[in-house]
Amino acid sequence: MNDNDRKPTTNDAGIPVSSDEYSLTVGPDGPILLQDHYLIEQMANFNREMIPDRQPHAKGSGAFGYFQVTRDVSSYTKAAVFQPGTKTEVLARFSTVAGESGSPDTWRDVRGFALKFYTTEGNYDMVGNNTPVFFVRDPMKFQHFIHSQKRRADSGLRDNDMQWDFWTLSPESAHQVTILMSDRGVPRSYRHMNGYSSHTYMWVNAKGERFWVKYHFKTDQGIEYLTQEEADRIAGEDADYHRRDLFEAIKRGDYPSWTLKVQIMPFKDADTYRFNPFDLTKVWPHGDYPLHEVGRLTLNRNPSDFHAEIEQAAFEPNNLVPGIGPSPDKMLLARLFSYSDAHRARLGANYKQIPVNRPKSPVHNYSKGGAMRIDKVSDPVYAPNSKGGPKADPERYPEAATWSAGGEFVRAAYTKRKDDDDFGQAGTLVRKVMDDAQRDRLVSNVVGHLKNGVSEPVLKRAFEYWRNIDKEIGDRIAKGVQGG
Ligand code: NDP
Ligand code: HEM
Repeated sequence: MNDNDRKPTTNDAGIPVSSDEYSLTVGPDGPILLQDHYLIEQMANFNREMIPDRQPHAKGSGAFGYFQVTRDVSSYTKAAVFQPGTKTEVLARFSTVAGESGSPDTWRDVRGFALKFYTTEGNYDMVGNNTPVFFVRDPMKFQHFIHSQKRRADSGLRDNDMQWDFWTLSPESAHQVTILMSDRGVPRSYRHMNGYSSHTYMWVNAKGERFWVKYHFKTDQGIEYLTQEEADRIAGEDADYHRRDLFEAIKRGDYPSWTLKVQIMPFKDADTYRFNPFDLTKVWPHGDYPLHEVGRLTLNRNPSDFHAEIEQAAFEPNNLVPGIGPSPDKMLLARLFSYSDAHRARLGANYKQIPVNRPKSPVHNYSKGGAMRIDKVSDPVYAPNSKGGPKADPERYPEAATWSAGGEFVRAAYTKRKDDDDFGQAGTLVRKVMDDAQRDRLVSNVVGHLKNGVSEPVLKRAFEYWRNIDKEIGDRIAKGVQGG
């Protein structure tokens, strides 16, 4: 570019400035003048460049793309985004859970798999993980779980003893911990992992019929993993290994994609299924509820401003559109509150007006005011009104995603059913799904983790925990840690 073609620098008010290099001083060697507003603006802006990290899932990467429906699932949901042939713009963000925003991408951890579909009926957010289950089934324990994964109060260090203390006192974590300690605990890249809703959601069709669904975004790149040794080495060489991989793949036109398949459970089955189908620590076996293809997610555009488009992205499980609703999963119900609260704290009350969070369908409502409001409000500012303001349309948009409930107010676990237990599905995974080589790596990963700072009485409980998952694996782990 010819120097004459370059735009003149201005301050943030658009006023041309006279130097990019020199502050305004009394003579070349004299003091700086307070009237050098441009210098002050530079320093003040710099001091405010950082915003708080997300509490969990701070380190992540994102990209834009689209979701294309390939099959007809209109008999299960009327959601505009899943109607035959529909193509919808999507934002995806993948993340680790426990690390801070600069932490290594290859630390062993669950990965977040968050999607925002900019549908014609508002933003639909599917905020899942790369695993189909979770560590706990009651939201009261979520905050404690995250504390145990992060840093100690005294040293500010992460601490495996704290992690196993929590896990072994929370046996419902066994299924997720088994997956975490398996090959899936360190994917080769964000492109080489699946995404799952984990939770059960409700779908409602145009006739008002209801179904329970679980989402599986299967990577078209194939599942690939890093061994613990590879992950440890890469953590030192390139902390941003997964971020770089995703950005570079999209930049060279190697667009990653995922095929969305869903498991569908008839509404009534939930009452009599052999275990609670809303328990987030369990999968629905494919043999009971097979996968139905819905469409394909493709990522084809990198962010151009990481801060504006990815750091400020606000995903929220409460963004559910007509035709999709929550289920009685207590974890999901708590998440419907938690995320928008986090966004108001981290980004401000008007976070939905930040371009990346803004719906591409029109917004008509009575929200007004608040810090950093950009959209102008017009009268009337109240409802009901006789002045032509927006009016809810219950005929067209009924409250359809509902179920019935009753009983005393209690603090209790889900009512137990025949096959409700903490260890069964983890055991199936170890015995029936993994091969010998996968089991060997599982044992080696757990032994390495336990040898790194876990002490009694936690260690003894950890051996018991693994023996409850699988006797042989538990014995091998105990032997590996104790030697001999
Ligand atoms: P299937 O044999 O039909 O499914 C087994 C599934 O296990 C595979 O489809 C694959 O899921 C997944 N898998 C393979 N290796 C691993 C691993 N290291 N960590 C986690 N998942 C892995 O049997 P079932 O449906 O009866 O499930 C048996 C067990 O498989 C479950 O107890 C659960 O632990 C695990 N599983 C089941 C899923 C489900 O939704 N039914 C989903 C994922 C795991 P994928 O194709 O999604 O990669
Ligand atoms: C991020 C809360 C369970 C997936 C977050 C954030 C909070 C939170 C506060 C930070 C949000 C932000 O600042 O942007 C909770 C609570 C849970 C829970 C209270 C349970 C009660 C889960 C589960 C999953 C999940 C079960 C997956 C199925 C994610 C993902 C992100 C996230 C992917 C990152 C979103 C992004 O990329 O911005 N969670 N969470 N969380 N959570 Fe959860």
